[in-house]
Amino acid sequence: MIRKGGSNWVDAENFFDRKTELEALEERVREGTHTLLTAQRRMGKTSLVRELQRRLAETGEFEVVFVDLEAATDSADAIAEIGVQAKPVRAAWDRIMTVFANLVRNAAGRIEELSVADLKVKLRAGIDAGNWPQRGDAIFAALAESGWPVVLAIDELPILVNRLLKDETGRWTPEGKREAGVFLSWLRKAGQAHRDRVTMILSGSVSLEPLLEQAGLSAHANIFSPYDLKPWSEQTAVSCLEALAGSYEVGLSPDACRDMCRRLRCCIPHHVQMFFDRMHDHLRRGGRKDASLDDVEWVYVREMQGVRGQADLQHYEGRLETVLGRAGYAVALEILTATAVDGGIAAETVDRYGSWYSTRDAQDEDSAASVDHVLHVLQHDGYLEPGDGGYRFVSGLVEDWWRGRYGQRFVPVFDRQQ
Ligand SMILES: Nc1ncnc2c1ncn2[C@@H]1O[C@H](COP(=O)(O)OP(=O)(O)OP(=O)(O)O)[C@@H](O)[C@H]1O
Ligand SMILES: [Mg+2]
Repeated sequence: MIRKGGSNWVDAENFFDRKTELEALEERVREGTHTLLTAQRRMGKTSLVRELQRRLAETGEFEVVFVDLEAATDSADAIAEIGVQAKPVRAAWDRIMTVFANLVRNAAGRIEELSVADLKVKLRAGIDAGNWPQRGDAIFAALAESGWPVVLAIDELPILVNRLLKDETGRWTPEGKREAGVFLSWLRKAGQAHRDRVTMILSGSVSLEPLLEQAGLSAHANIFSPYDLKPWSEQTAVSCLEALAGSYEVGLSPDACRDMCRRLRCCIPHHVQMFFDRMHDHLRRGGRKDASLDDVEWVYVREMQGVRGQADLQHYEGRLETVLGRAGYAVALEILTATAVDGGIAAETVDRYGSWYSTRDAQDEDSAASVDHVLHVLQHDGYLEPGDGGYRFVSGLVEDWWRGRYGQRFVPVFDRQQ
């Protein structure tokens, strides 16, 4: 029985559908193809990888390792994280422990029982800016020799790369580019060296490609074959809503389900789940079980776009600011708001923004503020798509959020009184 998803990743019985995607990814793993999983925010990338790993581990033919680099501060830290997450792979872990033996043994020469967090601290103490590539090689070699093919998932690699590229103020630095290049080329070499023994799946809540392209590092990712995770079809989303309704004994007619999907426009699993959850709460408060089309309207307008819905919007905004920096984010804010207010943005308007910002920021070429780059990121991360001789929002919900938040009294920057 499927339970509500909340906002963290889901797997097992709470994981709905994605059969085709699971099959495709399993095939890639079996063929030793490294994958770069791309999709817009909240599409269920992390869940898909977790569920794939769960199923592959269950076959008994694979070992699986999941690493989240969101909090990794630099290359050495990332290596420590990969190392410590390899702990469930017994044979590999034993080898890794021999590399770090002097750090993890106590005075009596024994390896103490330590929590993963404490082990990470120990490993980290043995890895520095000079030796991380060798340490990383040792960890990869240990995984490759574990006896079973290993599926190594690395989530939020783009967040690390972004962090490497920029200084504290969000500016690209030459040392940052060098460091990011060295890390990515190390990862590529490791992936090539152990192909068939260690298969990698990269994912992240922001796209890697626009970052690499801007940094001139695109070639470093060429061993990873992209796989684009799409939204659910309306039919799948309706089935998921029906399954949830069944679990929670809510009466959701097919018409109500379809109306929910139509409002979302793009059936991003998290938004489908959120819609159901808000509907469930709404009915519960009214002491009711059955949802009418009026309820759908009410919940969409009052709850999804209300204060609680906006908490999610902040999450989107935070990520955009992280990858674009402050200047780029200001451009994104402008373009997204213009697009939301008019239900689309014409190519001529985009050009107008392009020339407006380029004259203004001419002295600042290296910033991520160029309209081209911002648009590239906005398309890659699934905010906007081309259409009607310009661009429009992919998701009806994100568009409505954006309009609700920034649309009032919006005046394009080139029309504002300076
Ligand atoms: N296959 C699925 N079945 C049911 N719910 C799902 C599924 N995939 C995603 N969800 C819903 O979407 C939410 C977000 O999933 P997940 O964290 O995997 O997405 P993500 O693409 O990794 O997000 P982010 O862009 O923030 O990294 C989950 O909490 C769940 O509610
Ligand atoms: Mg994720």
